[in-house]
Amino acid sequence: MDPQTFRFLLITDTHYFAEKLGCRGEAYDEFMAYEQKCFAETQAINEAAFRWLNGTDLADTVLIAGDLSFNGEAESHREFIELLRSLKAAGKRVFVITAGHDCNEHPFAYDETGRLAPEGTPRDTLFDLYYDFGFSDAIAVDREHLSYVAQLAPGIRLLALNNDGNFASRHTYPARQIEWILRQTAKAREEGETMIAMTHYPMLPGSPVFSLLGGEVVMKNADYLTTLLADEGVHLCLTGHMHNQSIKVKTTEKGNRFIDVCTGSLIGWPASMRLITLTDREWVDVETLPVPDFAWDLGGLTKDEYFARQFDRMLNTYMTAMRDDPARFLGKLGLKNAPDALQKTVAKVGSYLNSASVGKVCRLFAVKCPASVKDKPFRQLAVELVRNIFTGDSPYNYGTPEYEAIMGVLRRFSPLFSVLDRKNGTAGTENAMLPMLERTIGHYGVSDYNARFRLH
Ligand SMILES: [Fe+2]
Ligand SMILES: [Fe+2]
Repeated sequence: MDPQTFRFLLITDTHYFAEKLGCRGEAYDEFMAYEQKCFAETQAINEAAFRWLNGTDLADTVLIAGDLSFNGEAESHREFIELLRSLKAAGKRVFVITAGHDCNEHPFAYDETGRLAPEGTPRDTLFDLYYDFGFSDAIAVDREHLSYVAQLAPGIRLLALNNDGNFASRHTYPARQIEWILRQTAKAREEGETMIAMTHYPMLPGSPVFSLLGGEVVMKNADYLTTLLADEGVHLCLTGHMHNQSIKVKTTEKGNRFIDVCTGSLIGWPASMRLITLTDREWVDVETLPVPDFAWDLGGLTKDEYFARQFDRMLNTYMTAMRDDPARFLGKLGLKNAPDALQKTVAKVGSYLNSASVGKVCRLFAVKCPASVKDKPFRQLAVELVRNIFTGDSPYNYGTPEYEAIMGVLRRFSPLFSVLDRKNGTAGTENAMLPMLERTIGHYGVSDYNARFRLH
C-alpha cells in the first residue's frame, strides 16, 4: 500500500511592519543597535517569502505560529492580511495563531522627528481580523482563548493554541483553556485522529542554558503541559517566539514522546522556514528551508551574513555598553537605577572583556589554551557563543579548540556550580551546570535543522 503522506510548510514570527509607518532616523538607528531582528526590511522579506509560498509545489498548507506583526500596528496587520489573502488566492490553506506582538495597543515607529505612535490593535479584534485564516475552517473554536482545532488532512488534526493568556496569565494556558484542550484531545482519540499542536511559546527549552532563564524562554508550566499533551496523544508541537532553531524531545514517565520543533523568525537570524512531512501518521520528517532572496540592498553581504550582522550588532552593543555605559547596560537587563558600585564593577569587567584575547582569559584562570584560539578576541568568542545558541547545532563539541578553552575556564567555577546544583536539585544529573553548559556550547544528538522521528 502507498504511504499516506501529508506535507505542510511552517513559518513563524513574521513580524511584518508596514514600511510606510516609518522606520528611519536617528531614534530608529539607536533602537536597532539593541535589536536582534530586522525592522525596515520586514515588509520586503515577507513579500518575498509569500511570493515563494504562493508559487511552491512543495505543499498546499501553510502554518504560521504567531507574532505576525512587528508590534501590533493596525496598518501592519492590514497589509499582512493582504499577503495571507494572496496565499489563499494561490490555492493554499492557511492556519495562523496570534501572539503577544499582535495585540499591542501602543506600538511604535520612527522617522526623522523621533518616535511615533501609530494605531495599535486591541486583542478583542484579532478573532475577526484573522477569522479567515484558521477559525473559519475550524471544527472547534475556543474564541475566548483564540484557539481552534482544524482538520489538516484525513486523520490529521491541528490543535492551534494561542497562549497570550489575554495578558492575565501570559506564557501559559489558563485553566479553562486546558479544559477545552482536554475535550479536543479526548475527541481526537475517540475518533481515531492524530493530533499535532501549534503554539507560540516554546514548550521545551531550545538550548540547555535556557533552562536557567526565567521569563519567556519557555512556557511557564512547561513540564506539566508537555507531559499532559504527550500523554493525551499530542506528540508534535510547533513553536516560535524565541527566534531560535531547535528540535527538542522529551519522553514522559508513561513513555510518551513530546517533540518541540521551534523555528527561527522569518525576519532575523537564523531566518528559516520548515517543511514538515507526516507519513502514515507515524513518521515525522522536519526539513529546514532558507528564507528566499528579498528586494533589499544587502551591501554586498549574503542573506545569512546580513541577518547575522544585525544579530551580532545587538550583542556587540551590549558588550560595549558594559564598558562605556554600564547604567544603560544594567537598565536593559531590567536593573534600572543600579547602585554606583555595581555600575563600576560592570564597567571594569566590561573593559577587560572587550580588550582581552581568549588566551588572556585562559591565563587568568590558569587554563591551557589551544594555540589556534589564543589570539581570538574574547569578545568575538562571546558573540559567537550567544549567536550559536540561537542558530542551533552549536559547533563547539568535545575535541574542538574552543571546547578546550571554554570548558577549561568553566571547570574553574566547579565549586560555585556545586552550590547551584545542590540548590537546583540537579547535582549528579545531566542538567547539572557543567554538563548542561557542555551541551550548550556543543551539540550532541538530534539536529536542530533536519530530523526524522517516529511520532509515538
Ligand atoms: Fe517574535
Ligand atoms: Fe513572541
